[in-house]
Amino acid sequence: MRGRCAISCCSGSTELALYPLVRPLLFSIEEETAHRLTIAALKLLPKGRTEPHPRLRSRVAGIDFPNPIGLAAGFDKDAEVFGQALRLGFGFAEVGTLTPRPQAGNPRPRLFRLAEDKAVINRMGFNNRGQDAARARLAKRRRGGIVGINIGANKDSTDRVADYAQGARAMAPLADYLTVNISSPNTPGLRALQGRAALDELLAAVMEARGATPVFLKVAPDLERADIDDIAAVAMDRKLDALIVANTTVSRPPLKSRLREEAGGLSGAPLKALALERLRDFRSATGGALPLIAAGGIASGEDAFERIRAGASLVQLYSALVYSGPGLARAMAKDLRRLLRRHGFRNVAEAVGTEGLS
Ligand SMILES: Cc1cc2nc3c(=O)[nH]c(=O)nc-3n(C[C@H](O)[C@H](O)[C@H](O)COP(=O)(O)O)c2cc1C
Repeated sequence: MRGRCAISCCSGSTELALYPLVRPLLFSIEEETAHRLTIAALKLLPKGRTEPHPRLRSRVAGIDFPNPIGLAAGFDKDAEVFGQALRLGFGFAEVGTLTPRPQAGNPRPRLFRLAEDKAVINRMGFNNRGQDAARARLAKRRRGGIVGINIGANKDSTDRVADYAQGARAMAPLADYLTVNISSPNTPGLRALQGRAALDELLAAVMEARGATPVFLKVAPDLERADIDDIAAVAMDRKLDALIVANTTVSRPPLKSRLREEAGGLSGAPLKALALERLRDFRSATGGALPLIAAGGIASGEDAFERIRAGASLVQLYSALVYSGPGLARAMAKDLRRLLRRHGFRNVAEAVGTEGLS
């Protein structure tokens, strides 16, 4: 983004080059403590602004995204650093998952780095300070960047559909979009909401509560063909605005790390092939009628380009940040821009779903 960026280190290459020096220190600290340190450090990030490049601008669900590379949910659960994430070059930031009431989540340790595999396993269990606390912070934000709010249900809730409806009603006025997260593996029974009848009831309630705010649905990668067809049918029937494919996996592809048997959801490099396969499945199940947002093992401009060509209009990432550091979004945007140009695409939309076409 040479000549277009108002803050220093704007290519992302400086942060990328420096991060290997900082990473051993961060990796020597217990995972969750390192994450809290990262959030604290981000709060010190100087103000700045990145001008979007025309080739990367993307309009999805009526929203204008400055670039298609987003920060996935879970990094900024309590909506503390979404502004800083945008300043790091992300085209959008998704906060949450936020539940109606605060909850502690599962006992620690519950977050594991699998460094040999460039992966993460987590069983956080929707730890968050609740929607009211986040609302106060989100209400202060200056409009300009794109911020999505990811909502969930409390673990001890007796009416999970009511939790989602309440979350949609409370958070919609502050969100550019809402994400209905029913795909976390760490809240027992939550993924059952992906079943056809349960999903239909849930989405009916959320769509009524959301006002005019676009609603995205985030699905698991651990789905069979029949589940995929059901979810796609209900999502289109209920006129959802997009699907996010996918959350973490409970499966365990071959892994080197001794932590591989830890319970929880796996993300990062080993999720890449599965998440890409699910994206293709949802592309074929929706026939391109519903925008798709890809997540899972995305770590480079090439990865983003591959997902776009497989049918994604936007991409999101989390785990790769742990391994590549804060310069990643900007470096990826630069690489993606180059790839689009090299392949003759004037913008992202032109490249969406072009895989397999000559
Ligand atoms: C530590 C951690 C916490 C997460 N928490 C959430 C969450 O609260 N809500 C959610 O929808 N996804 C959550 N995710 C899933 C990510 O948003 C993303 O879908 C997944 O990690 C795959 O992307 P990645 O391979 O780039 O990490 C979490 C992931 C990690 C690693």
